[in-house]
Formats: sequence, C-alpha cells, structure tokens
Amino acid sequence: MSFGARLLDLLTGHALTMMISLGHRTGLFDAAAQGPATSAELAGRAGLAERYVREWLGAVVTGGIMEYDPASGRYTLPAEHAEFLTGERARNVGPTALMLGSLDAVLPEVAAGFRSGDGVEYAQYVTATEGRMGGSWRHIYDEHLVDGFVGGVPGLTERLRAGARALDLGCGTGHAITVLASAFPAAEFVGLDIAPEAIAAAEAERAELALSNARFAVGDAADPLPGGPFDVVFAFDAIHDQQRPDVVLGRVRDALAPDGVFVMVDAKFASAVEDNLDNTYAPMAYAISTLFCVPSTLARGEEALGAVWGVETATRMLAEAGFCQVTVLDSPRPQNCVYVCRTAEVDHCEG
Ligand SMILES: C[S@@+](CC[C@H](N)C(=O)[O-])C[C@H]1O[C@@H](n2cnc3c(N)ncnc32)[C@H](O)[C@@H]1O
Repeated sequence: MSFGARLLDLLTGHALTMMISLGHRTGLFDAAAQGPATSAELAGRAGLAERYVREWLGAVVTGGIMEYDPASGRYTLPAEHAEFLTGERARNVGPTALMLGSLDAVLPEVAAGFRSGDGVEYAQYVTATEGRMGGSWRHIYDEHLVDGFVGGVPGLTERLRAGARALDLGCGTGHAITVLASAFPAAEFVGLDIAPEAIAAAEAERAELALSNARFAVGDAADPLPGGPFDVVFAFDAIHDQQRPDVVLGRVRDALAPDGVFVMVDAKFASAVEDNLDNTYAPMAYAISTLFCVPSTLARGEEALGAVWGVETATRMLAEAGFCQVTVLDSPRPQNCVYVCRTAEVDHCEG
C-alpha cells in the first residue's frame, strides 16, 4: 500500500513538473507573483486564454503550489513559493523543469539504445541544441561563480585579478566565461567546446557584452588544447560527458602552466550506488544521466562515465592523469563539489 502511495506521488510529481514548466514558459508564475487574482485577471495579466489558465490553476492549487480563496475567487502564489518559481535566480526551478520536460522527447531513441547499445546523437536533444542544459546553469553562474566556485579556491580570485590566462573546457553556451571575463577584466579567457552551435551562442553573448578579454573556439578536448599554457583550466559539469575523459584529463595537465590549477566543478556523489541511497539528489542525477549523459556520450564512443561517476572514480582518474594534489571542496550548491587539482611540476606533491 505504501509503495502504491509513493508511486502515485511520483506520477503526480511528474505531472506537476509539467505544470511548473508551463507556468515558467508562459509567464504565469511571474504574473501570479504580482498578487492575488481570479483566473480571468491572471489570464489578462499574462496575455493568455482564461480557459487554459483556469485548468492549470486547478492543478497547481490542488498540488500545493498556489492557494485559492473560494470567497473571492482569487488565486495566490505565496511569496515564499514565488522565490522558487520566478525571477532570474538560481533557485528558480523553472529552467530545470523545462530541461527535464525536453528530455521526454528522446525517450523512444533512448529506449532503442537500451536494446542496441547505441548512443543518441547530440543533435537529437532539444535539451542540448536549444541550450536548455546551459539555461539551467546560467543563473547558477550569475549567483555562485565568482564568490562561490572561484572564491572558494584559495588564491584563485587574486590570480584572476592579477591577469591569469584561463580556459573553460566544454564551455557550452559560454555564460561562465562571460561572467568571469566581466568580473576579472585583467584576465584572459578562452572557451572551448565541440558543439559549433553552442560556440556560436557563446560568441553572440560575448559580442553583445563587447568583452575583449574572452574568445571562443570549436574544438575537441581530446586533441591538444590550443592556446596554452594556462594558469587555470575550468571544467564545469563537462568531464563526465567526455568520450575519452582519461585523454582529456591528460590534455588539461599538458595545457597547464607548471604552477597552474585545474578547477573541475562536477556532481557530488559517491561512485557506488549503495553509497548514494541517502542522497536526495541521486535519483534525478541518475535519471538525467540515463536520458542524456550516457546516451549522448555513447553516440561518440564506447564508454560513458555518466553524471554519477562519483568522487572516488574522479579522484582516481585525476591521480592517473598526473594530478597528484587534489582537494575536493564543497560548493555553494549541495549537488556539486569543486575539485582543485595541481600537478607535480611545482612542489605540490611529495615523492
Ligand atoms: C553538460 S554540458 C556543460 C556545458 C557548460 N560547461 C555549462 O555548464 O553550461 C557538457 C559540454 O561538454 C561539451 N563536450 C563534450 N565532449 C566534448 C569534447 N570532446 N570536446 C569539447 N567539448 C566537449 C558538450 O558539447 C557540452 O557543451
């Protein structure tokens, strides 16, 4: 009985995730955050059709997302709920709901992959091609990159302020670079990604902001990295998606200046499934990995680490690539950790 109730919760959660996606996409949450409204008033505010809005309100009220006052006929989005559903901020779950929803579209291809063992081409993913993966990270960079991810690495802020040369490997649509290049005008940044459409989007944002200390290039991180040596190499959520992560980690080591540092932000999980049982983020991470990370990596090779490769596998592979000093730091987000990696070139390591 209790498992049946849990399954009902899961299915309801999926349905409400679609409602969150719709609320985000149509601007209904932003409109509702302006104050209590009838369905007609809310539809008017958002420029939408009342009949659709009324049905959606039924779902989000019974789902505990909004509240309804039958006496006035008005619906309210409580301010503490609006915190998580509106605005250009990392805690707005709207972009993540959109990204999850767009993965539904590849279920037939992924199911075929389960049978054949083949991967699913990157181009099949709206998630990737419309920048939705990057979309869910944009606000995270805006809020946490400079003070959280960079600020947490001892000495890195000072180094970037002084004019370090930095590479972002697997930069996607490049927002991390534009945030960093704006915050550290004396430093120089290069973004590298294998996806030309992502680099085109990155370059468009760079040009709009007229940043002269950033540039982007299409390239395969498994090839020697162009433009080195670098004082800093960043990889945000990118190493586990590599077809040859072992080769790429070696390329990073080779591209670093002797006193350089590799800063790898990745998912914070254990490598063994039994050690992730109490991690509330684990089911979603394994699921996204099943639908996106593993199939899109298998499309380019025979192995796929998956998003939940875990701290033990990551530190082992970093050591094998020659990073003898690896410190794993907590990040401002509990789902991520920051690996701060140095090589033996300078006196970082014993022996
Ligand atoms: C999960 S996305 C992360 C993107 C970006 N760092 C962010 O946080 O928004 C992983 C990125 O790695 C890129 N990638 C995968 N294999 C690559 C390779 N061999 N060389 C360069 N980039 C690669 C993908 O194109 C994708 O943009």
